[in-house]
Amino acid sequence: MGPRCGLLTQVWYLKVWDFEIGSAGFKKQRVLAIVMGTCEWLDAPTYEKAAEKLVWQAPQVLFMNTLPHLEGYERIIDVGCGSGLSGGLFIDAGFVVDGIDKHAHMIDAALDRGYGRGFVTKVETGNARIVSLAGTYDCLISCGMFGDYVYVSALRSVLELLKQRAVVGIAGRAHDLAKRFRRSSNGNRQLQNLEDELEHNGFTILEHEIGVGHHSARGFPVPYVYVVAGRE
Ligand SMILES: C[S@@+](CC[C@H](N)C(=O)[O-])C[C@H]1O[C@@H](n2cnc3c(N)ncnc32)[C@H](O)[C@@H]1O
Repeated sequence: MGPRCGLLTQVWYLKVWDFEIGSAGFKKQRVLAIVMGTCEWLDAPTYEKAAEKLVWQAPQVLFMNTLPHLEGYERIIDVGCGSGLSGGLFIDAGFVVDGIDKHAHMIDAALDRGYGRGFVTKVETGNARIVSLAGTYDCLISCGMFGDYVYVSALRSVLELLKQRAVVGIAGRAHDLAKRFRRSSNGNRQLQNLEDELEHNGFTILEHEIGVGHHSARGFPVPYVYVVAGRE
């Protein structure tokens, strides 16, 4: 869930800048600029309370769509695991789940929920501990992170954590994940289309569903895409 949809892990702020522009010899102009942005702030219990309020149903749909493809598989890595709402369903079904999240407080909550190992790192940058896990996992799940928080082009580095024969289950905002490219803040074009990226990495799309991920603060349904892909 991202900044536009529900304040789940972020809060909006308004900043007012008051400054003067103009060069020597010219009358200076006073300029007022209002800047809007977000900062991340929530702890895990507050996140979960908000998830309940906004009817965060993506973990359940992701679980139901991915589970039928996991026959004979055991180890799952949950990318952007948060407090473990998605991976927890797989743990309850008997899988071993590890998590990656950029927030230590989220990883702590996921470990409390039964995750085997937790790695505090940004998906885009990774770290040495994660690199050492290359080829370890049977399945990668990610719910509510790719698309609005993280460019799909960052998926490539975490796919390295999978064995050759593997399954991927990803849920994210349908609008974001259907775009072909997205511009980052430095103006570079980043590949954004989820299914293109998976196919480029040798996966075949097994399931594609458009459904509701959660509701907005005003009660409108927010469309999510649920994609399951497999590689032999
Ligand atoms: C909407 S929450 C979803 C959490 C969990 N997957 C769930 O289903 O409840 C998005 C999570 O992605 C994490 N996240 C956002 N950007 C990230 C990044 N660049 N690297 C790793 N984690 C990130 C956030 O800290 C947050 O826990």
